[in-house]
Amino acid sequence: MSLGYSEKVIEHFTNPRNVGELANPSGVGEVGNAQCGDIMRVYLQVENDIITDVKFKTFGCASAIASSSMATEMIKGKTVGEALELTNKAVAQALDGLPPVKMHCSLLAEQAVKSAIKMYYDNNGIAYDAALFAKLGEDGHDHGHGDLVEE
Ligand code: FES
Repeated sequence: MSLGYSEKVIEHFTNPRNVGELANPSGVGEVGNAQCGDIMRVYLQVENDIITDVKFKTFGCASAIASSSMATEMIKGKTVGEALELTNKAVAQALDGLPPVKMHCSLLAEQAVKSAIKMYYDNNGIAYDAALFAKLGEDGHDHGHGDLVEE
């Protein structure tokens, strides 16, 4: 009974990487999807522009947990700029695909990472182009607004 999930999705759901919180994170991003009610929080530790540690807590479906696990693995050790380029499609591809109705779960991962980076930029007075975070909503805190777009 795979329900169309790849082995990688099942593996990351069963054995998720980087679960937890960071005590003094450089940035935290929390996003949610009002339709399914799932919530994802990502914690980043940034040193000299490198993401040295990343953790997540996801109250959500198997695809959301697998996406969080994969997304955190993909940005760990990367520069903040590289992490900003992470797309939900790349996360889904790295998981060997998600069922079409589950693509929004990977979007949560992309947006949680972006939201955490936005907080890091804001906290450190780092200038950025607001368009980078346009999809996160006005305050970059999308939790419960339900305006996440499926791609
Ligand atoms: Fe909403 Fe997966 S069903 S995040």
